[in-house]
Amino acid sequence: MDPLAVALVLVAVHFGAPLAYYVEAKRWLKRPWDVERDLQHTPTVTVVIPTYNEARHIEEKLEDVYRQDYPRYKLEIIVVDSASTDGTAEKARRWAAAHPDADVKVVEEPQRRGKAAALNATLAMARGEVFVITDADCRWPQRDALRRAVSWLADPSVGAVTCLKKPTADGPAGVEAGYRDHYNVLRLAESRRWATPIFHGELAAYKTELLRKIGGFLLDIGADDSHTAAKIAAMGYRAVAAEDLWCVEAVPHNSYHKWRVRRAQHLLQHFLKTPVEEAPPPMQPILLAEKYLHLANPWLLPAAAIALAAAATPPALALLAAGAATLAFKPYRTWAAAQLYLMAAAVKNLRDKELVWEKLDK
Ligand code: GDD
Ligand code: MN
Repeated sequence: MDPLAVALVLVAVHFGAPLAYYVEAKRWLKRPWDVERDLQHTPTVTVVIPTYNEARHIEEKLEDVYRQDYPRYKLEIIVVDSASTDGTAEKARRWAAAHPDADVKVVEEPQRRGKAAALNATLAMARGEVFVITDADCRWPQRDALRRAVSWLADPSVGAVTCLKKPTADGPAGVEAGYRDHYNVLRLAESRRWATPIFHGELAAYKTELLRKIGGFLLDIGADDSHTAAKIAAMGYRAVAAEDLWCVEAVPHNSYHKWRVRRAQHLLQHFLKTPVEEAPPPMQPILLAEKYLHLANPWLLPAAAIALAAAATPPALALLAAGAATLAFKPYRTWAAAQLYLMAAAVKNLRDKELVWEKLDK
């Protein structure tokens, strides 16, 4: 077959598949939720803050949770620190002593074994009916974030809820915000259809009994938040991103690319270990599409470029140049960057899964 034709097909599929999924997702967005929310539903809640060297953030994070408009006697806060070297645990303990009206426990692991292991240690002791995880370096701008999150869990069909994300700052070339818009539409659409396979550790709430049933957080998958949600969805429960729940996440200025690649590594680990056939029927097209888009689709772009370069005919080279020129447009640059992160992540996963990762400065 003519390399030019091959390249054109690859490019068409590379851009066509996500576009088709996005168009389909927009249709799902019009569906009713079919969820009975209840903002008066206030089960006991355990909020877990896993920390590794978060001295800069821990007090503000504790304030964030403390400020929540939620019955205080129903709220347990657990900081689980894995041998931080910057005094995070001491700061948390001091904060707890200064706020005797809050039920704050500080668990100190003698050794750092990663976030998932730390979360599992708290799952054994949590007294809440709902188990909420939140990163130390993110903020809940809504005072009723917790109430909104658990309101979805009032419905017996919903097993897990997560927030949508807003970055505090853009990454290089405004990449972060552009990427998030498209991304949030997909999370909401998937949630309306059944469940989204991508959850956010900034605020992820699970029914504690379901977490215990699936055996807690898997130690060999970095995306602990997403993978547990998908497992709960595989049990037949909805796992949704709530349309009215927002978290603000800090974006690292210095190591932005490194950060994106590591997170992509974790997502790929999750998708590789989430079989489509084990999901309930309404979830299957979602998983199939997301697995394809994360694991395979990015590679069609360099394959097309190689085919064009190999053809080396004037039309092929002109097409290659046109492809490169589109990088001048921000949306395309954002897209291309995401593809690069996914490919770099796949390669890096072969060597190191980054299950215990470097703390990047935010
Ligand atoms: N206890 C404990 N032990 N906590 C840890 C460890 C650990 O070994 N490693 C990281 N954490 C904590 C951090 O202190 C932070 O509160 C949270 O886990 C997330 O880690 P970050 O270093 O801030 O990573 P991120 O901003 O990229 O986080 C995102 O991606 C992760 C997976 O790649 C979030 O979505 C996380 O929830 C997600 O786990
Ligand atoms: Mn973070």
